[in-house]
Amino acid sequence: MNDPILELSGVVKTYSNGPERLPILKGLNFSSPAGVTSVILGESGSGKSTLLNLIGGLDKPDEGRVIVKGSDVTALSEDKLSVFRSRSVGFVFQFHYLISDFDAVENVMLPAYMTGTPRKLAERRAEELLRSVRMAERLRHYPHQLSGGERQRVAVARALINEPDILLADEPTGNLDEKNSDAVEELIFSLAETFGKTLVLVTHDANLAKRGNFRYLLHDGMLVER
Ligand SMILES: Nc1ncnc2c1ncn2[C@@H]1O[C@H](COP(=O)(O)OP(=O)(O)OP(=O)(O)O)[C@@H](O)[C@H]1O
Ligand SMILES: [Mg+2]
Repeated sequence: MNDPILELSGVVKTYSNGPERLPILKGLNFSSPAGVTSVILGESGSGKSTLLNLIGGLDKPDEGRVIVKGSDVTALSEDKLSVFRSRSVGFVFQFHYLISDFDAVENVMLPAYMTGTPRKLAERRAEELLRSVRMAERLRHYPHQLSGGERQRVAVARALINEPDILLADEPTGNLDEKNSDAVEELIFSLAETFGKTLVLVTHDANLAKRGNFRYLLHDGMLVER
């Protein structure tokens, strides 16, 4: 059996708000082999985004270990962490965070360009990815000229541009109605399968959750397999 590509053990995360302490993750364990899809369900406020941020190195736990591809993310220097964030993981956030002054191609190519891919090559890859998320007809549209679902598809293409092994997707609820939100999530599943990515996806949709190889409920600071 291969070593897991993702392994979280004893992860504790508590937010402080003035004197108040808000325990969110309470010794959480999680692991995933490479190339499989895991789905996390959980109520609003249960800590799903918090958990994805820890896996993606955007935040650090108070206790516990977050091992990604054999290295402890919590122990990486800022420099190494930024390389990790731009190369090893692709993020599709709950809100799209596209840059409003950039068109679709420019938004998608940016992470590649920032990490040293020549401009022309980054642009060509961005166009290919936009085609694979069915955005071929909107390459030069700006975010304000796109629908909510289209913006999320651009965000999906952007998450894939640096060919990360791991794709982290937080429910694309932004301004999307249920139909569009499900369509984007379905697209993420099929791309993850096509490209053999390790996917961790958060969704509210119990039906779509069945699509995952593994399913979990985040409840009371712990993950329960379903
Ligand atoms: N920076 C912060 N400071 C204080 N509390 C925070 C902070 N970030 C998140 N929280 C609290 O931690 C809890 C978990 O937040 P999180 O965003 O992880 O929830 P979630 O499961 O993603 O919810 P949703 O489904 O609504 O997106 C929430 O109650 C939130 O108010
Ligand atoms: Mg969230």
